Amino acid sequence: MSKVVIHGRTFKVKITDTEIQKAVADVAKQINTDLKDKKPLFLAVLNGSFMFASDLMKKVNIESEISFMKLASYDGTSSTGKIKQLIGINEEIKGRTIVIIEDIVDTGTTIEEILDQLKELGAAEIKIATLLFKPKAYTKTFPIEYVAIVVPNDFLVGYGLDYNGYGRNLADIYVLDNTIDVIVN
Ligand code: IMP
Ligand code: MG
Repeated sequence: MSKVVIHGRTFKVKITDTEIQKAVADVAKQINTDLKDKKPLFLAVLNGSFMFASDLMKKVNIESEISFMKLASYDGTSSTGKIKQLIGINEEIKGRTIVIIEDIVDTGTTIEEILDQLKELGAAEIKIATLLFKPKAYTKTFPIEYVAIVVPNDFLVGYGLDYNGYGRNLADIYVLDNTIDVIVN
């Protein structure tokens, strides 16, 4: 499938399934070397990272655990405004090596929130593994240790990434097809 339509907009293939698998294998190889004796706890951030987490973990061959979490936002009091809470972690974080598995790091705001909360829970060491990284959009300074694919500042969909909830199931990664979406006034 080289083109798909989601919510009436046309997307074209940008990164193929084969290219993704190759990049994921490279990240797994690096992790297998770096974290060999650390018994890491992988924490995949739902929903977006589910495909990456699955493919990555099939290639990770060191002793490790995996769990899944979500960053849920809810309205706090009017004085505190929006509050984001990490939900779904039942494992002991204190003293452990944690690898956060993300679908994409864009501005870095989401991952910063997660990092802060895991530090508060006493993680000894926290690494970030992301399928995609948009360096041009990144506003933070903390390092992203494991990046599968560096991408430009385009909106992408597929392989876990959604466009208003749809498209997560696509095996390839797609970008908006500007050659077709001509806006006529
Ligand atoms: P950040 O907090 O700006 O780094 O954004 C991270 C979140 O924004 C990701 O976890 C995605 O849910 C979403 N996001 C950022 N860029 C894209 C994209 O190109 N396609 C789909 N979702 C995106
Ligand atoms: Mg996400």
